[in-house]
Amino acid sequence: MALDWLLAPPLPDAMPRQRLLYLRLREAILSGRLPGDMRLPASRSLAATLGIARNTVLFAYAQLVAEGCLVADRQGTRVARLPAARAASPRPSAVPEAPPGLSVRAAAALQREPARDAEALPFSPGVPDFGAFPFRSWRACIERAWRDAGWRQLGYAAHGGDPSLRTALAAHLTGVRGLAVDAGQILITGGTQAALDLCARLLADHGDTVWVENPGYLAARVAFGLAGLQVRDVAVDVQGLAPSAEDWRCAPPRLIMATPSHQYPTGRVMSLPRRLALLERARESGAWIVEDDYDSEFRRAGAAPPALFGLQPDAPVVYVGTFSKTLYPGLRLGYLVLPRAIAGPFIHAAALATRAGQGIEQRALADFIERGHYTTHMRRMRARYSTRQARLRSALEEAFGERVALSGGEAGLHLVMWLPAEIDDRAVAERAARLGLGARALSAYARPPARCNGLVLGYGNLDENAVAGAVARLKQAVGA
Ligand SMILES: Cc1ncc(COP(=O)(O)O)c(C=O)c1O
Repeated sequence: MALDWLLAPPLPDAMPRQRLLYLRLREAILSGRLPGDMRLPASRSLAATLGIARNTVLFAYAQLVAEGCLVADRQGTRVARLPAARAASPRPSAVPEAPPGLSVRAAAALQREPARDAEALPFSPGVPDFGAFPFRSWRACIERAWRDAGWRQLGYAAHGGDPSLRTALAAHLTGVRGLAVDAGQILITGGTQAALDLCARLLADHGDTVWVENPGYLAARVAFGLAGLQVRDVAVDVQGLAPSAEDWRCAPPRLIMATPSHQYPTGRVMSLPRRLALLERARESGAWIVEDDYDSEFRRAGAAPPALFGLQPDAPVVYVGTFSKTLYPGLRLGYLVLPRAIAGPFIHAAALATRAGQGIEQRALADFIERGHYTTHMRRMRARYSTRQARLRSALEEAFGERVALSGGEAGLHLVMWLPAEIDDRAVAERAARLGLGARALSAYARPPARCNGLVLGYGNLDENAVAGAVARLKQAVGA
């Protein structure tokens, strides 16, 4: 079938061609004008027919594949077989129309819940104990950084980050995480979110596939989706990320986002055989693993499992860390540790893509680490969080007994409380919110077909004395 009508007039002036092509293709598929199973021309040939760039076609195809209207397989691209009800509906509700002026990718991102502010409600996940922040020593470091600052510090921060911070961090990661890295491999970022955005844009191309854990960290999906990557949900089992043979065959990844030390949010630890297998397959298929080590800190006992980054020489892994939890999220400082082979060009490209800032905070942080305040603070918090978790665990066991199972307490700042199937976790989270609790539904981190039913219970900011009261309210929310 000739498809030259796809860009036939009228052509709205203000609408980019890629969006128009996407909308017209979608309309044709939903109306049945392009029937199920029909093969579409290769992107290059459709681009030639329509007199547009191939990227424009690739964008439209990729978007429609993501929405399930098209299927990409080895032979190319074909129209999906849509159920009659869906075909009849002019606009599937799962695909919101982009609000005027926003991109289709932004519209897709808007389908998710907005990022919450760092609420300090009992059980809010990921919130450290703000009350225990070492204000005095931090303030001293900040004051020193300002005292020593000249006009140069008012400009953009150095490429890759302040040299003093990169050096201090390299020594810290070598000592504490056994990473054996040097300062040249470290790139300071505006937290994990900025690091993931850089990985998406500098390690992958538009339309490439990224695997994310399911259930997993929602903000990562958003970062990758907004960078124009195809996000594929990959199952998680008791050993962590568990890609199937079909995942490798049908959606070979360019990026694999994983939290192997302490899967977020389930808290499962990736087994060594699984780590080695993942490294092997990633290497074979030319994929990069983005290792988010967010939840490896504050271990209850023993050392953290070795990072994927250091497991093999030249492993195809970039390592992501943050100070959001060990210090405070508003600091907006995190880092990427890069393999030597790509560190130079990656940092160069990052300098072209962004403008680094917070030079003063970076120097203060370097000073804070060098003076040993960071290690002292971590040690103190580890003991405190450990006591807090033990208190919470026993209060939950007392309140709920056999009805619930707890997991994920080896490290990090939250426990997962699995609920029996007949109790709907989202309804419980809503009732809990009305009772002033920040517990989050586990299912909110998952996408079909993953099914998980439970609560993510942050205890970082939950004072020991408040545990009993908070658990009593939680029991009310569960039992109502
Ligand atoms: C899995 C995971 N990684 C990283 C972060 C921290 O992100 P950022 O460094 O952007 O504050 C979070 C915060 O909740 C998280 O859940």
